[in-house]
Amino acid sequence: MIDIYPLQRRLEEWKDLVIEETLQYAWDTMQHLLYAVGIYIFLCGLVYIATVYLRNSSDCGQLRSVKRVLFVIAHPDDECMFFGPIIITLAQRHDCQMFLLCLSNGDFRNEGKQRKSELWKSCKILGIPEDNITLCKCSHLPDSPTVEWREDVVANLILNHIESLSIDTVITFDKGGVSRHINHSSIFYAAAYLCMERKLPSYCRAYALESICLVRKYSAILDVPISYLLSSYWYIISLRERDIILSAMEAHASQFIWFRKLYMFFSRYTVMNTLKEIELVDLELDLELDD
Ligand SMILES: *[C@@H]1O[C@H](CO)[C@@H](O)[C@H](O)[C@H]1NC(C)=O
Ligand SMILES: *[C@@H]1O[C@H](CO)[C@@H](O)[C@H](O)[C@H]1NC(C)=O
Repeated sequence: MIDIYPLQRRLEEWKDLVIEETLQYAWDTMQHLLYAVGIYIFLCGLVYIATVYLRNSSDCGQLRSVKRVLFVIAHPDDECMFFGPIIITLAQRHDCQMFLLCLSNGDFRNEGKQRKSELWKSCKILGIPEDNITLCKCSHLPDSPTVEWREDVVANLILNHIESLSIDTVITFDKGGVSRHINHSSIFYAAAYLCMERKLPSYCRAYALESICLVRKYSAILDVPISYLLSSYWYIISLRERDIILSAMEAHASQFIWFRKLYMFFSRYTVMNTLKEIELVDLELDLELDD
């Protein structure tokens, strides 16, 4: 008869060893991951502080020769929620004049009047005076979730503004519209239409605010290094300036509910904006890819 007892014991010892090693391995991996995340956050902080500090000493990454800018947005509050950093930055430049065209007064809950006065307040905080704002209440831009705004109608509206105000830089949404809102994309298509039809005056260029994926959108300053690597034009603001955007958003009292508060806290669009020029070549390429 063979004695199986030592064999059994050895097996058990071996099992314990495997479990112990696996746990140790998992723990080590987690530690390494935590270190990596910690280092990344630290680096983001450094990059952020360095660029906020250095941004005024060089024009690197900023639009050149911007004198008269027109922001085209879809609803009152888009200016704070998405365009804050660039508005704040340009407001500090004495050689730059800003105008805002808002294509709807957000009247779908009969809050039109209130939202108008909120827009006035918010823009004042951001640095755009009342006289430089146009708020449309256009009957041909219907308040229907299924109706897309007709691009030629919107395009003509924008073009009229560009010509009557001698605008040299138009800034609006890109195809993704940051939040995939159809009203936002409609404005991009209108601007694209102006480009494609070569209707933009020669002195005017159009830029789109870049949409980014969900994770990046909500990672505030953790997105800063990635934005630097991927974008050609960027505007970044200090935390003190960010408070201005937050108080401008508070002026939109009817809109400032919990999920927008969360948005404002985590959004990368309250710290940094990146822009891309709307160019004919890209648009043509896009069209070909879509076909
Ligand atoms: C508002 O527009 C006027 C011209 O109509 C311009 O002189 C002024 O600089 C603009 N204000 C800002 C803050 O851009
Ligand atoms: C466009 O905006 C209006 C409010 O101005 C809204 O009622 C409508 O649902 C929006 N359309 C789309 C397609 O989202």
